Amino acid sequence: MAQTTLISKDQIDQRVAEMAREISTEFAGSDLIALCVLKGAMFFCADLVRRMTMDVALDFIQISSYGNQKYSSGVVTILKEPQLDMRGKNVLIVEDIIDSGLSIREVTTYIESRGAAKVKTAAFLDKPKARKVPFTPEYVGFSIDPQFVIGYGLDFAEKYRNIPEVQVLSD
Ligand code: IMP
Ligand code: MG
Repeated sequence: MAQTTLISKDQIDQRVAEMAREISTEFAGSDLIALCVLKGAMFFCADLVRRMTMDVALDFIQISSYGNQKYSSGVVTILKEPQLDMRGKNVLIVEDIIDSGLSIREVTTYIESRGAAKVKTAAFLDKPKARKVPFTPEYVGFSIDPQFVIGYGLDFAEKYRNIPEVQVLSD
């Protein structure tokens, strides 16, 4: 398998800092919960919240993933539920990547059902051309073409998450 750099560590740092500034401006003075979608968003979320300038609570949700395949099964189940009370709160879902849109749609519906006041999404990566259901995240790090990427939290069969940049994985 070949791995080629798509987004460098410097580009990531710069863009995540910009996103944090934008989010901090929008949510200044509000009661925000950053909801990290495990496991892929862990590095993005850690970098993002550390650059936010207002109070932010952290919580985690884990949903079923692709298994060991590159394509979505289309079936999403919740493996780990968030712990915090979301009623009346602003929730920022922090995702690694939006592909078909199925996962984020499920998570959004679920968080809304827990009584959140406002639910928004920050996605590190977005593949808008790969959608099977419509979904537009409020904050996007980078929009990319439909291709399989790894690194900065993103895996293939649980490998490559610890690579500090984003690479394209091809056979
Ligand atoms: P969706 O439900 O098809 O939008 O898929 C979203 C989830 O699939 C993401 O949160 C990732 O965990 C995983 N995923 C989608 N595309 C990629 C990729 O290119 N590399 C690694 N994981 C991916
Ligand atoms: Mg994910």
